[in-house]
Amino acid sequence: MFRNRKIFGDQKSFEVNPQFNADNYKKKDTSIISIVNQKGGCGKTTTCINLSAYLANQGYKVLTIDIDPQAHTSLGLGLDVDNLAHSIYDVITRDMELDYVIVPSQIKNLDIAPAISLLTGAQIEISDLLGRERILKTAIYKMVNTNFRNYDYILIDCSPSLNIVTINGLVTADSLIVPVQTQYFSLEGMKELFSTINLVRERLSSDLNVLGILPTMFDKRLKMNKEMLRQIRDYFQDKVFDTAIRMNSKLSEAVLSKESIFKYAPRSRGAQDYSSLGQEVLERVKKYQTI
Ligand SMILES: Nc1ncnc2c1ncn2[C@@H]1O[C@H](COP(=O)(O)OP(=O)(O)OP(=O)(O)O)[C@@H](O)[C@H]1O
Ligand SMILES: [Mg+2]
Repeated sequence: MFRNRKIFGDQKSFEVNPQFNADNYKKKDTSIISIVNQKGGCGKTTTCINLSAYLANQGYKVLTIDIDPQAHTSLGLGLDVDNLAHSIYDVITRDMELDYVIVPSQIKNLDIAPAISLLTGAQIEISDLLGRERILKTAIYKMVNTNFRNYDYILIDCSPSLNIVTINGLVTADSLIVPVQTQYFSLEGMKELFSTINLVRERLSSDLNVLGILPTMFDKRLKMNKEMLRQIRDYFQDKVFDTAIRMNSKLSEAVLSKESIFKYAPRSRGAQDYSSLGQEVLERVKKYQTI
């Protein structure tokens, strides 16, 4: 058919790839959870690190993917982000296989696909690409499809912005955890997030769900905090986790020490709260999987 291969290249270049279509691939047991809120500093990274550690400590195989150029999750899990061979930037902008990027963390059962600051420019680099919203999903589904690496949970830490890289995090996820700070709860901010979630569902045919809204940095001594928590529960009802993460300085110290709260201060309020969140997450995921 293609007599002159020198001109046309290999015949394979003209075949439709019969092997892979991310939408047709039915994931088996991997649950993908993105942690998202465009509000900065509301506890996304703290939640991602400690929930990942909780699940890994329970014996689940966990992959944490950092898609925030600040790379706080990668740093908090002990990686030297200035000296990485590859990062999630290569997956998003260069079509690199996720497998090349994943490194083990210091926590048993927990791997990480790290971010680097170059990721800031990724949204411009991919702005003209076909299917730019689905690059991460395709990479993850390809990896899981090969059965080369099996994970029970994949947790994705998003940046405080609803840019195209964060949209990749939404499109990829089965469900979302939305941390909200009880001091600075903003209904307007939540409306913007939920309208983006609905657009992702409509236009990018995803089955995205909100696993739960997570009140964070709660200080019961402050009247304003209690009032905000009440409003969050009134407004979002059973979408809100029963667990509210209390203010606890050990959580900040643990990140700086590059340890999970369970290792750094296992008896702290932070460790208690993230254990209780972990149990709720396991229950809610089970419920979604059986619906
Ligand atoms: N429950 C808590 N008690 C005390 N400090 C906390 C708590 N949760 C988070 N922090 C601290 O608050 C700061 C912001 O938290 P974190 O980095 O988790 O937020 P983020 O949403 O990931 O921020 P960004 O939007 O910049 O990515 C950090 O210094 C963290 O250590
Ligand atoms: Mg963060």
